[in-house]
Amino acid sequence: MSAFKDAGHLLRFAGLFVLAFIVFLVVRRFVVPKSFGEYGHYRGAAIAEIAAHPAQFAGHQACEACHSDIADAKSKGKHAHVNCEACHGPQLKHADDPSSGVPPKPDTATLCVRCHAASAARPKDFPQVDAVAHANGVPCETCHKPHDPALGAGGTQ
Ligand code: HEC
Ligand code: HEC
Ligand code: HEC
Ligand code: HEC
Repeated sequence: MSAFKDAGHLLRFAGLFVLAFIVFLVVRRFVVPKSFGEYGHYRGAAIAEIAAHPAQFAGHQACEACHSDIADAKSKGKHAHVNCEACHGPQLKHADDPSSGVPPKPDTATLCVRCHAASAARPKDFPQVDAVAHANGVPCETCHKPHDPALGAGGTQ
């Protein structure tokens, strides 16, 4: 029994661990949200909260219903598959009620380079330019129509 002669301080130490574990369980009970785990390692109630956020985007079908001239021009050009709100931003409010205000015209100085600035991170066959050398300060829309940007047949000016 001499091995356990001085066990007192070991037991006190073990007691501290047990106490800390109990405190952990108590705190955990209060800080872990009720719906956590309902659908796995996730707070279940977050789904309803996210769904309750007001929508911001109208979707291109809505835009095309009123702006059919632009939809037409766009469908024939290289931007056929770039959706309206990718360039014009979320416009549900405008689409629901155009009299609530017209969207501002996008500033091509910042818009076009977002997708077309030359970058090693883009796929090699995606059209990209070194904007400074390419445009030399001339606004992109001087040469490219935003809704049908390719030059040449049908596209110029
Ligand atoms: C219910 C019809 C309607 C819908 C839907 C609609 N618009 Fe409009 N839009 C208008 C009207 C009316 C105007 C103001 C008249 C004009 O300049 O054509 C306008 C103006 C604009 C303008 C400004 C035009 C300018 O000359 O400065 C932009 C940009 C625009 N809309 C983009 C959109 C986009 C993007 C969508 C889809 C999210 C959309 N619109 C959906 C009716 C609509
Ligand atoms: C690639 C980006 C891009 C896409 C995609 C795009 N637009 Fe535009 N749009 C622009 C820019 C840039 C202007 C402003 C041109 C200017 O300053 O003259 C503009 C102008 C407009 C205008 C003002 C009238 C005009 O012709 O200048 C309307 C209305 C409009 N867009 C609606 C739409 C609708 C509807 C769609 C989808 C069918 C759409 N746009 C898709 C970039 C885009
Ligand atoms: C949201 C991304 C996006 C924005 C913003 C955007 N584009 Fe594009 N652009 C595309 C895509 C996608 C294509 C089609 C690429 C393909 O065919 O491989 C394209 C094609 C083009 C082409 C045709 C290149 C060729 O193949 O000859 C030109 C020119 C062009 N865009 C110019 C512009 C200009 C100018 C603006 C600003 C008004 C602009 N783009 C804004 C995504 C974008
Ligand atoms: C002075 C006229 C002019 C201006 C301004 C201009 N471009 Fe161009 N762009 C051209 C010509 C010419 C071509 C080659 C013909 C073509 O591919 O359609 C071209 C081609 C492109 C291409 C296709 C490149 C490829 O590899 O196929 C993209 C993308 C492009 N321009 C984007 C832009 C952007 C973004 C701006 C604004 C920063 C801009 N351009 C301003 C004349 C211009």
